[in-house]
Amino acid sequence: MTIEQKTRIAEFLDLASAYLCSGYKSQTMTHQFTDDESAVPVVAEQAAPQAPLLESQPKAIAQPDEPHVTAGNAISISNNVVAGNGESSSNDEAGIGTLEAIAADIATCAACPLHATRTNAVPGEGVSAPLVLVIGEGPGENEDKSGRPFVGEAGQLLDKMLASIDLSREKNCFIANVVKCRPPHNRDPFPEEIAACAPFLTRQIALLKPRVILCAGRVATQAMVKTTNSIKNLHGHFIECAKIPLFPMYHPSALLHDSSLKRPTWDDLKTLRIRLEKLAAFKI
Ligand code: URA
Repeated sequence: MTIEQKTRIAEFLDLASAYLCSGYKSQTMTHQFTDDESAVPVVAEQAAPQAPLLESQPKAIAQPDEPHVTAGNAISISNNVVAGNGESSSNDEAGIGTLEAIAADIATCAACPLHATRTNAVPGEGVSAPLVLVIGEGPGENEDKSGRPFVGEAGQLLDKMLASIDLSREKNCFIANVVKCRPPHNRDPFPEEIAACAPFLTRQIALLKPRVILCAGRVATQAMVKTTNSIKNLHGHFIECAKIPLFPMYHPSALLHDSSLKRPTWDDLKTLRIRLEKLAAFKI
């Protein structure tokens, strides 16, 4: 990592620690989340391959203490460390398969042109009963090389952002992407590519049963929720996505390019943290 990259991450962390030191953590962190708090079962629905991932507009926007507003679902939505690379899961439901089976299917998928240029497919990784499922848009160069999600500069920042609210891929998150193969030159995935890959994310969500979905950036949010609304308008507001609260935030790479997004993003992370605490406190 270059000095400039390290500096950018350090700047974000300074902002986070300023909030933490000013009392947020000591006043609100009364609860440690554990893996076994996840998992209200969610009914799996199979996505039509060409369908957008949610189906109605996200008039959405339920604040943490408000009831959810349903947004419908576009990637159709029908928990131990696994992913593309690990232990077996007992959640083999209704033809959805295990996380390992999904990863194997992804590794041999040729449903869209992205397969032709991949080095490795990137199925995702994290705990198998996550409190939070983080969804990004698609692998970049580092992810394509390693077969792991969010391991480049943006990924390192994502890890820091998650850690600031006691989340991590090792402890209580699963990290996946809308498309599992790298789009050339890191361009946005095309709608046909998102549609071709959607059944994999649908199966992952059905197995993982996350309590909250955290969408990183416009592409992932618009793929999950049928909207053309901007991430500027959508970030920081909960949208109900087939009974799972979905929370859009700015993509970490956007923060690396525009430091003015750090403060609103930290506010969003605090909002998310409060929601997670409420889920735990009320055993929702
Ligand atoms: N950006 C993403 O959206 N996903 C990754 O896995 C890496 C970078």
